[in-house]
Amino acid sequence: MTDRYAVIGNPIGHSKSPRIHALFAAQTGQDISYQAILAEKDGFAAAISAFVAAGEGPARGANVTLPFKEEAFRLATRRTARAAAAGAVNTLSFEAGAMIGDNTDGAGLVRDLKHNLGCDPGGRRILLLGAGGAARGVILPLLLENPAELLIANRTEETAARLALEFSRLPGCAVAVKPDSTGFANLAGRQFDLVINATSAGLSGAVLPLPTSSFGPRCVAYEMVYGRETAFMAQARAAGARVADGLGMLVEQAAEAFFVWRGVRPHTAPVLAALKGN
Ligand code: ATR
Repeated sequence: MTDRYAVIGNPIGHSKSPRIHALFAAQTGQDISYQAILAEKDGFAAAISAFVAAGEGPARGANVTLPFKEEAFRLATRRTARAAAAGAVNTLSFEAGAMIGDNTDGAGLVRDLKHNLGCDPGGRRILLLGAGGAARGVILPLLLENPAELLIANRTEETAARLALEFSRLPGCAVAVKPDSTGFANLAGRQFDLVINATSAGLSGAVLPLPTSSFGPRCVAYEMVYGRETAFMAQARAAGARVADGLGMLVEQAAEAFFVWRGVRPHTAPVLAALKGN
């Protein structure tokens, strides 16, 4: 019997996850199926139940995408430490009646940075833009890489300050989030080696009011959005930074989920190349 997996979201038609996991399965010889499921906005739990109940083989897991990551967190019967820090779940594993919630987004970002882009966060001065779910999800994995510093900046200053305070108390991390995390206006004169855009500004075309000086020498600018040239990417390029979009993170978070489920780590380079091909 084929083990079944799915990605659940709303909207879901655009999702690249079925293709990515099909490529992983073919490459590693794993016998799985992976489908995309559109859930009603108030129908996430029902969609999970229907997925588990239906089908030929056993349902083993699901990826969760917008807008259900927080609801998946609440529904999970157990959560990993990285899911707890993120406050959101993007990977569910169904095991003997339990629903284990994990979050592979931050690990995906770190792996893309280190393995695909040659940009080890260790020792770097990191500026994280945004203080919503996307930003929160990557903080713990970044801190565990021991950056020189991690500063959070957000349009709404209080939200950044609250998030910074929460993570500055995190036990087990040698590096804390800078407690002086801030609004964009206070970035003047400060330089960073890695600037990560975790705001959703890229989706609306809005320009972030960042000083050019934020992008230090040999800076890497990482845009979590993929599939388009955002204003942030143009800004970073103009300031001389090396620019990456979030396609690598998408593939790496999927690979981490595949590893969680199957215990096999797929090679991501050919999958990333296939996605870039069209
Ligand atoms: P996500 O889960 O994608 O992080 P979110 O929780 O709605 O979504 O958070 C969106 C983030 O993008 C927030 O940090 C938001 O800033 P505010 O806290 O000030 O709302 C940021 N954001 C969205 N549009 C923006 C814009 N035009 N300029 C600057 N920041 C923006």
